[in-house]
Amino acid sequence: MKIVVLTGSPHKNGTSNTLVNEFIRGAMEAGHTITRFDTPFLNIHPCIGCDHCGMNGPCVFNDDMPNILDTILASDMIVFATPIYYFGFSAQIKSAIDRFYSRNGQIQRKHLKSAFIVTAWNNDNQVMSAIEKHIEILIDYLNLENVGMVLAKGYGYTGAGIEKHYMEASYNLGKKSNTVTSRLG
Ligand SMILES: Cc1cc2nc3c(=O)[nH]c(=O)nc-3n(C[C@H](O)[C@H](O)[C@H](O)COP(=O)(O)O)c2cc1C
Repeated sequence: MKIVVLTGSPHKNGTSNTLVNEFIRGAMEAGHTITRFDTPFLNIHPCIGCDHCGMNGPCVFNDDMPNILDTILASDMIVFATPIYYFGFSAQIKSAIDRFYSRNGQIQRKHLKSAFIVTAWNNDNQVMSAIEKHIEILIDYLNLENVGMVLAKGYGYTGAGIEKHYMEASYNLGKKSNTVTSRLG
């Protein structure tokens, strides 16, 4: 498969990037091709809702997003990796998701496979509840076939201390991403 990975953390060696690196290692070992976009380091203007695209046309912003969208539409799977920022996606990756608007129908018709990797500082029962609901609705709305999620709670900004079971779950998600796997949260 061709897999496109969108990351949302400015911490290059942080927790979500550490887990997504494991996903990529597994996916590459399984023979998949990866194209990675680290949204915090790219030029992605937030959608301004001008509707120039009419949800199916060129965006007024000729930044890095048209290339990302072309890559998504030429892929079989999309992976989202984000730290929790106030119980949701980071603004950086959310800006990229909002820009899906200009190719909304095309993305829905692709019926892409998907996976989600999310990390949070807190380690309580509610920290993931809002983003889990958001992800569930996004999967349905974008007509994605989700193959799995890793929801890792209790981590700061360094990936070094991440527990083995989350690393293994991310690796296995990549390795077995052409089959439906279970969620680890
Ligand atoms: C602006 C901001 C908002 C955050 N909001 C939350 C939050 O609502 N809940 C939480 O548990 N952690 C929150 N965090 C902590 C990060 O989600 C957490 O440390 C995460 O593991 C960092 O991942 P990273 O190393 O990939 O950046 C926040 C961090 C920042 C910078």
